[in-house]
Parts: sequence; structure tokens; C-alpha cells
Amino acid sequence: MADKSTDKPIEVLLQERRSFPPPKSFKKSANMRNAGLFAKAKKDPKGFWAQAAKELEWFKPWKKVLEWDSPWAKWYIGGKLNASYNCIDRHLSNGRGNKAAIIWEGEPGDERVLTYRDIWREVNKFANVLKKLGVKRGDRVAIYLGMIPEIVIAMQACNRIGAAHSVVFGGFSAEALRDRINDAEAKVLITGDGGYRRGGIVPLKRNADEALKETPSIKSVVVVRRIGEAAHVDMHDGRDHWWHDLMADAPMWCEPEKMDSEDMLYILYTSGTTGKPKGIVHTTGGYLTGCHLINKWVFDMKDDDVFWCAADIGWVTGHTHIVYGPMANGVTQVMYEGTPDWPDKDRLWSIVEKYGVTIFHTAPTAIRTFMRWGTEYPQKHNMKSLRLLGSVGEPINPEAWVWYHKYIGGGRCPVMDTWWQTETGHPLISPLPGITTLKPGSATKPLPGVEADVVDDKGNSVPLGGGGYLVLTKPWPAMMRTIYGDPDRYVQTYWSRFPGKYFAGDGAKRDKDGYYWLLGRVDDVMNVAGHRISTMEVESALVDHPKVAESAVIGKQHEIKGQGICAFVTVKAGVDTNSALVDELKAHVAKKIGAIARPDEILFAAELPKTRSGKIMRRLLRDIADGRALGDTTTLADPAVVAKLKEQYEEE
Ligand code: WT7
Repeated sequence: MADKSTDKPIEVLLQERRSFPPPKSFKKSANMRNAGLFAKAKKDPKGFWAQAAKELEWFKPWKKVLEWDSPWAKWYIGGKLNASYNCIDRHLSNGRGNKAAIIWEGEPGDERVLTYRDIWREVNKFANVLKKLGVKRGDRVAIYLGMIPEIVIAMQACNRIGAAHSVVFGGFSAEALRDRINDAEAKVLITGDGGYRRGGIVPLKRNADEALKETPSIKSVVVVRRIGEAAHVDMHDGRDHWWHDLMADAPMWCEPEKMDSEDMLYILYTSGTTGKPKGIVHTTGGYLTGCHLINKWVFDMKDDDVFWCAADIGWVTGHTHIVYGPMANGVTQVMYEGTPDWPDKDRLWSIVEKYGVTIFHTAPTAIRTFMRWGTEYPQKHNMKSLRLLGSVGEPINPEAWVWYHKYIGGGRCPVMDTWWQTETGHPLISPLPGITTLKPGSATKPLPGVEADVVDDKGNSVPLGGGGYLVLTKPWPAMMRTIYGDPDRYVQTYWSRFPGKYFAGDGAKRDKDGYYWLLGRVDDVMNVAGHRISTMEVESALVDHPKVAESAVIGKQHEIKGQGICAFVTVKAGVDTNSALVDELKAHVAKKIGAIARPDEILFAAELPKTRSGKIMRRLLRDIADGRALGDTTTLADPAVVAKLKEQYEEE
């Protein structure tokens, strides 16, 4: 199963000759049409970002745009604002109060429409609920919910009172939830009795109860009733409360806290190269400024749009492209609870048709899945309302890009391939629909106000046409500020590989036109279906199993997921290696981390290839799994080990 996207040498990619200039309609009326801004922002980045911040409402203006003591950034110093005020209240006084903010569809087919005024009322009430539970400015609140409007309300309520939310993806396991709660020392957990997914029920509360056995910081749990009786949840007296009970008599007004621009807005955990997830910290003024501007420009958000980002709010894409960006822009959006294949494979397209979605955003792994399902599913529906498409999470192979453009976008919708990370806050390398000529497979160029480069091993800029490491050379407002509780790791991970430059962890090449072609991670981080998973996390989950002695995990090219997870495992003496154990180990990893980390392949090895100093050579394991000739084996302690493993792999 060779994946066309990653399998192709970059030389072939660079021969990608198809190009798509911006359609006339976008050239004429896109929110951002002034190509001169690229040069202007380069000349005066502070002036550019000050202008961007003025599009928000501040309770008190900032005194200084930027303080940059590399790698420590402070933006809009002295400025005071509130994110929920900017995402909700200000729309009530600009005529959008009765406009639909969220058009929600549950997986079983139930619907809810919440106007900006409805959201405002619910957010105010829930902010008061949180206060009553003792949540104070600066506290952390964990949220473990599915895709229901309450997740948005809860997040906005947190920022209204100045508490930082830490959303944990509903697909993560109890242990993953526990570790994230403990790292952030969250005071309150907001969860649900369950969520609907592919016709089944995700047992959120039961997972949460498991996690809560070892989370001493949690004082209260708020439970949203989504399922009812069938969820069979236990409510712990004194600790657990139903959302609707607390909301019943909550007052309808809660004064928004005047937050400092640099106050923490949220923490979101992501995987790094060690087993311990990193709590990425975003702050209020900078994040919201970038989020508002970039959503407005890249997705061309207008008042009559129906925007739909089909990501889960448990990931940064959902934070930036559901909760903060679209809401700061006062746009109407669609939110869907379930999976794209339930009850049938045309569910997304039926939603596009039903609500007249105009802008649709998803990930390459989803696009490749749609391709495999076939064109008959989108063709069942009238999708003429669509005018713009987005892609995010991993490199998109040109074939998938062209398919998306043709069969979903009807050949008329530009595709925004947006490169960014949890750490960057919003897209940094991305086309602009009214300006950029698109090349399928390239995220095109850095946005105005963003300075990127491709450097070699020594940190020297590589001339156009060459490849190397992607770095960012200037601070930007929405950049992460630190890793929660671990500032050294922040410096170490992002700023020490190339001093003074932000190291993204991605490889990239630039073609002769200066277009960026992202090549995937260069560290021990896998990108599985657009989800970042560290090899170390999966390895520790495996060695946690009593029968496992050692393991080495690698990302292997996968046709649909981009990368699949392949684990090489050695077992303890006397353990029988059979297919039952394979299943047992896969289930063990899913239980430890979550289903997204379940290995695709497990291979039992007598020994793992190691250097003389004992380091496992993952590079060679990747060669084996991808069916390539073995690279340099001279540093191995015993070259026979890897040769034998290759033989064994090819047999199985
Ligand atoms: C990593 C960040 C940003 C939201 C979703 C993922 C990869 C992301 C692209 C793209 C090529 C991409 C990178 C990056 N990535 N977008 N358009 N083209 N690669 O967020 O979990 O923080 O992962 O995803 O490898 O480093 P994340």
C-alpha cells in the first residue's frame, strides 16, 4: 500500500504543473485582495499586526505592540479585552443578535439552531455556574465532550470569567484524560453522559469516572445530558452535577472579565517526541487577533456565509476554525456530531445541501476516504452553494487535491491548503483565495506578517529549489507562549535546534517560485489521519503490557491515513507470540491512549536493531516497513538482526 502522497520523490512533486489562478469572483470581492500587503507587512510587521488587533474590541488599548526577548513574546502589552465579548457580545450590537451562530445536527438526525443571542445567554449563565462552583480567574477547567453546542458554550464561558479551558478530545482514553487533568491541575471537569458516534455511544462519563479516581485537583464535575437512560451513568453526590440543573436558575448576565492581553486563554495538549504530552499555552490578545484576521482572509468569511469546519473541537483546528475564528467574525456555522459514514457515506454532502454550506474545511485523510468511497455519494447532492474549500492536518497529495476540487468543489471552489500547528495558533503558510495561484499539493506561501524559511542542518537558508527544515524567523501574535509548567521544554523543543528561529519539526522544499511543499515530520512524531501521535507514547503503552519486553514504533506510509502505526515488539521469555496477542496489544494501546493510537501492524521481533550505544534505529525499521532497501547499517551493534527482521517482515 504505497501512498501516492508521500511515496513520490519531491522532484516528481515539483513537476506538478497544474495551477489554478484565483477565480474572478474572488479577485473582485474577496476580503483580502491587496497583494501589496505582503511587502507592507514585511517592512513593518508591528504596524501590520497592530492594524489587525484594531479589528477587535478592546476595553483598554495596548501601550506597546510587541516585546520580543527571544523566545519569549508579549503582544499588545497593557491591552485589556475579553474573548467571549469579542466572539459574542459585540455581535449583539452590530445587528447579528438574531443571526444563526451554530446550526447543529446530531448524529441521530436531531437539530438545534442557536443564534448569537442564544449563545450569549447560555454563555453568561454557564459562566455564572462556573463561578458558583468556585472557578476563579486564572483557574483551569477541563472539558471532555463530544461535538454538541455545549462544548462551545463551556469554552466561551471559561474565557468570559478568565479561566483557561483545556479541552481533551472525546476519543481519548480515561488515562489520557487523567494525565491532562493532572498536568493542568484543573478544578472542574465538564463532560457528558455520552455522545453518539457511528450509531454507538461514546461512554464519556464512564471514562471520566475512571480518570477521576486519580485527579485530586477536580472539585466538581458538570455532566451534559445528551443520551439519557441508555448511558447508565452514576452521579457522585457532592461532586457531580447535571448541566441542566445548574443552568436552571443561573443568572443571565455575567460581566466579562477584563483580561490582560497576555493572560492565558487556553491550554491544549499535543504530542511531542517524549511520552509526555505538551500543554501548549495560548494567550488572549495575540491568539484572538490572529485567529480573527486569518479566518477572515483565508476563508473569506462574509456575513451571508455558512461555514463548516468538519474537525473535532478536541483538536486545535476546532478551537481556531469553530470556536474562536468564525465566532470572532460573526459568521454562521454548521456543527455536526457524528461520523461521515453514518447512516450512509453521503452524510456530509447531505448536510452541505440541507444547510447551504458555502465554505467547507476538512483533512486530506478524509478526502482520501471520500475518494475511495466513490463519486456517487457527493453526486447524490446539490452542492452548488459551496464556494470555497479548505484542507488541513497533513500534506495533501495532488491527486486528492484535484479530486476534492472537482467532485466536492464542482471545479469552481479554490482549495486552501493551510499549514499550521497547535503551537502556531492559526494557518501561517496558506493561499489567499483572491490572490494566490494554487498548485495542488503546495500550501503555497507564508501569509502576510509571517516570516518563514527553509534551512539546512546548520541553520543556513536553502536557496529556492532546495529542501530542508521549516523554520519561522519572526514572532507572530498567536504563537504559543510556553509549555504549561515546563518553560525549559518550550525553549528546548522549538528554539534550540536553530537558535533564534522557531523549529516546526517539519521538512519542506521550496520550488523556484518560492512555493512551499511540506514533506511531513522530521522528528519521532507520527501524523496518523491528521492526528499527531508520538512514537514514544505508543511505545510506553506497549511496554506497559505485562508480556512485552521492548518495543519500537514507527509511522508507516498508509494510503488513507497518511501514516499508519507499525510496532515492532519483543516479548518476555516464555510468552507465546500469536495473533491473539497481536489483538490484545492493539486493544491495550487503544485503552491506554485512545482508538486513534491503535497500531495498524504489530510484528514480533526476536531482537530490535540497535546502535552500539543501545539506541533503537527507527530509520531502519521505517525502511523495512515501507519496503525500501535498508539504509546505512554500519553503526549497528549486530547488522544480522535487521537483515533477519526484514526477511521476516516480508514473509508475514
Ligand atoms: C502538524 C501539526 C494545524 C491543525 C491540524 C494539525 C502537519 C498540518 C499541514 C499541511 C502539511 C501539515 C505538520 C504539522 N500539517 N497542516 N497543510 N500540509 N502538513 O495540528 O496536531 O498540531 O499537527 O501537522 O506536520 O507540524 P497538529
